[in-house]
Amino acid sequence: MNLYVISGVTGMTGNELARQLLSKGHKVIGFDNFFASSIKTVEDLLGDEKFTFHEYDLNCEEQMCRLSAEVSSVRSSYDKLFYVNCAAVVHTEHFYYVNRTFQTNVLGMKAFLDQAIDLKADAYINCSTSEVYSMDSYRDGGVKETDFLTLATAEHSQRTSYAVGKLMTEFFMKDAVNSGLIAGCSIRFANVYSKNELYPKHIIPHILTSLKREGKVVLLENSKKNYRTFLHNYDSCSAVIALMDTPSALDGTIYNVGTTEEISIIDLVKLCAEKMGIENPEIIFEGYRKSDPERRMLNTDKIRDKTLWQPKITLEKGIEMCLEEMAN
Ligand SMILES: NC(=O)c1ccc[n+]([C@@H]2O[C@H](COP(=O)([O-])OP(=O)(O)OC[C@H]3O[C@@H](n4cnc5c(N)ncnc54)[C@H](O)[C@@H]3O)[C@@H](O)[C@H]2O)c1
Repeated sequence: MNLYVISGVTGMTGNELARQLLSKGHKVIGFDNFFASSIKTVEDLLGDEKFTFHEYDLNCEEQMCRLSAEVSSVRSSYDKLFYVNCAAVVHTEHFYYVNRTFQTNVLGMKAFLDQAIDLKADAYINCSTSEVYSMDSYRDGGVKETDFLTLATAEHSQRTSYAVGKLMTEFFMKDAVNSGLIAGCSIRFANVYSKNELYPKHIIPHILTSLKREGKVVLLENSKKNYRTFLHNYDSCSAVIALMDTPSALDGTIYNVGTTEEISIIDLVKLCAEKMGIENPEIIFEGYRKSDPERRMLNTDKIRDKTLWQPKITLEKGIEMCLEEMAN
């Protein structure tokens, strides 16, 4: 049995990852400061003695020392120790606040990595993002981990600060592995969604909630042209586990994790409406987001070659799962 320490455990990736690991019989110690989530996402896990939850802040030195002491005191009871950093300032609205995202996403990531190294953890998983592809987010067959980047900069939009911070974490990860301090890798996720997002800020919960409440949807002008792929959090988590279970993959490098099921945002609204039995949904276009690529698709050959991972939840199925949850 392994021990997994997960930051941001009540977030989309964290809570599902904990659930999948517990179902395999492992121990999980997770924490979150509820910046963008609530205890509700792990309510079903709280009675499980193999799950320990703390309301801790990644940026609080004293709480992180307590975590380190706890992990250190129990680690000899487990075969392997893994650290997974899911805590981050994630939603698009925060991308423009450079200081806030830097503190948690870069300094917090680094401090958590240092803790994993101090405790001689077997591996560290760094959650990065497809946002690092910035203006080069699409090409035939999908963008690859090895492709060079064309980044929007401060001359264009403060928005890229989130991506640049995440890019920096990939360097910390690689350096730690190359220096022989720990094993691990970075994962570039693309547009993850789940059935239990607390705030309807991502596009899928926004569309579903708007259609349910008002029968219409307000979208950015960008949505007239934009296409995206969407990754269900069941699949983002099974990718994390597939990588952790493959020692040769924990080589400090980067793995794209996404689907190739591309859809225009307009068609996404139509699909959601169809699933809700709404004919001809009203779409209102308001506002414009600078430096937002029209298409974003990742090439996932690398993770598929290294592991047996492949996404299982189709977009249609994922939307049905969201709607089932909304009905409860
Ligand atoms: N959701 C996406 O589309 C997406 C895409 C690419 C990458 N990612 C990355 O995947 C990782 C997981 O994201 P997610 O989708 O689960 O997002 P999420 O917002 O659902 O989860 C992040 C969690 O971190 C917590 N958190 C934030 N600051 C914290 C702090 N200082 N201390 C403790 N907890 C804190 C939040 O409360 C939240 O529960 C992040 O690193 C994110 O950048 C997500």
